[in-house]
Amino acid sequence: MLQNYEAFKTKVLALTSIDLNAYKERQMKRRIDALITKNNLKTYDEYIDLLRKDKVALKDFVNYLTINVSEFFRNPEQWKVFENIILPHLREHNSGRLKIWSAACSTGDEPYTIAMILLKHMPATSFELTATDIDDQVLAKAQSGLYTAKSIKGVPAEFKANFEKIGTDSFQISDNIKRCVRFKQHNLLKDPYPTGLDMIVCRNVLIYFTDEAKDEIFHKYNRCLNNNGVLFIGNTEQILSPKNFGFTAIKSFFYTKGV
Ligand SMILES: C[S@@+](CC[C@H](N)C(=O)[O-])C[C@H]1O[C@@H](n2cnc3c(N)ncnc32)[C@H](O)[C@@H]1O
Repeated sequence: MLQNYEAFKTKVLALTSIDLNAYKERQMKRRIDALITKNNLKTYDEYIDLLRKDKVALKDFVNYLTINVSEFFRNPEQWKVFENIILPHLREHNSGRLKIWSAACSTGDEPYTIAMILLKHMPATSFELTATDIDDQVLAKAQSGLYTAKSIKGVPAEFKANFEKIGTDSFQISDNIKRCVRFKQHNLLKDPYPTGLDMIVCRNVLIYFTDEAKDEIFHKYNRCLNNNGVLFIGNTEQILSPKNFGFTAIKSFFYTKGV
């Protein structure tokens, strides 16, 4: 086991703005130690020296830390709930433009999933969809809109026409879906949050954070949602006492602000 993780965390914060204190320690440390060994290094100090000197190693480190597995229509049953129950709820409470934030969006599969469902029911002018992630490599991939057969295998038949096959294992998402999403780099642990939102989709990232970090994020999410706005979280996540954060559960994994 490597020594001096505390000092390493401080140096990583200075170098990357990533506060490792907010991530569950055992899991994170295990991942970082494995990465150090893979780089044929033996100490945190050696690794920090490498990260300071080598931009590619630094990018790889951030990319590796941030675990960015995603797929279109991940947990399809939840997207049915979104389309059939949550979307009508949002439209009932907002007659103007829906403002939606996909936080920790990874390679774009999630916000593009949202865009496809929304476009089925309303014109692109009636919603504003922002997608953010801490990792600029996944954001670049999201903006390219290129996907493998594996990541789009869960796309329902009715939406398949949004992808054009352009190589043996490469599919390009259509421009009309791409146009609906604005991607931006954003660190959930540090940057200011957008306000006046109707919905926040934040799935499969909070599991990596400590309870304290999660609680602070739930409070912030509540503050940036409009009344009756909805928070949609991942299938392995739940808010134990939603009332403490001003939320009410409306369906599994969906919480609304207020009554
Ligand atoms: C497992 S992916 C989830 C992607 C998508 N939401 C989904 O459920 O399929 C987790 C994402 O969280 C991002 N992430 C990790 N820490 C973050 C932070 N502090 N701020 C913003 N995004 C973060 C990672 O870069 C990664 O892309």
